Amino acid sequence: MNNEIKQQIFDQAKKWVLNAGRTIKEKIDDPFDVTTKSNPNDLVTTMDRDTEQFFAEHIRKNYPDHYILSEEGYGDDLSSMEGTIWIIDPIDGTMNFVHQRRNFAISVGIYHDGIGEIGFIYDVMNEVLYSAKRGEGSFKNDVPLAPLKQHVNLKEAILGLNHFWLCENKLVDEKSMQKLVRTVRGTRTYGSAALEFAYVAEGIVDGYMTMSLAPWDIAAGIIITKEVGAVSTTIDGDEIQMLEKNSILTCHPTIQKEIIQEYMKRK
Ligand code: IPD
Ligand code: CA
Ligand code: CA
Repeated sequence: MNNEIKQQIFDQAKKWVLNAGRTIKEKIDDPFDVTTKSNPNDLVTTMDRDTEQFFAEHIRKNYPDHYILSEEGYGDDLSSMEGTIWIIDPIDGTMNFVHQRRNFAISVGIYHDGIGEIGFIYDVMNEVLYSAKRGEGSFKNDVPLAPLKQHVNLKEAILGLNHFWLCENKLVDEKSMQKLVRTVRGTRTYGSAALEFAYVAEGIVDGYMTMSLAPWDIAAGIIITKEVGAVSTTIDGDEIQMLEKNSILTCHPTIQKEIIQEYMKRK
């Protein structure tokens, strides 16, 4: 993707993200329908659907040769990362949206032939926009984010992680996870994967890990964290496959290997 086209898409996408955020914020106290999807805690609202539809309509009208990969059904059924793909989570943190009316984000990652080129994570209620273009750094409301600290020690690290994985489960050895929790300085669970990536990029948490995320949860976050020096892999240290669900570990490379080797034990 050449720089001129990239800049044009970035500017356009930024306007749509801010517009969508403004609409959500204006309607935040209006009643909306909540239904469940895969399980009783997997929520979706009319706001999720309306926001995704807004993006899909604008993208299809302005960029008819681009593809969309998204959560709520307005996207394409894709089997390849070829071409330009907008990977969209209209509201990441729907449970927070429903219960708290805050702590949720719009997440948009734009990939070209499998390479993450542009990322936006918008904390709607705080009006904080995290953004990145590949090779040009990451920004918080247009202010550059500093590169991540190189020598953070795991004992002094704060990790974003889902406490669900400390309970008995089929995927990971919960004893190893418990050991990790006792090793680090503290843990946080924010309830929005996109915001957790943004906080890693900002350096206010030192890493984020979770066991199963969809492409739209991670697409923008991977781009934004990479620009400040973080690595994103699965918890086994493998490359992320963007068209599948992945486990995720995002952090500075200095603690990534230690976390994987010492604490990430599969069942
Ligand atoms: C969810 C959030 C949550 C993560 C879940 C995701 P949604 O996204 O990112 O933090 O733990 O796995 O599904 O459903 O609110 O878009
Ligand atoms: Ca999500
Ligand atoms: Ca969502």
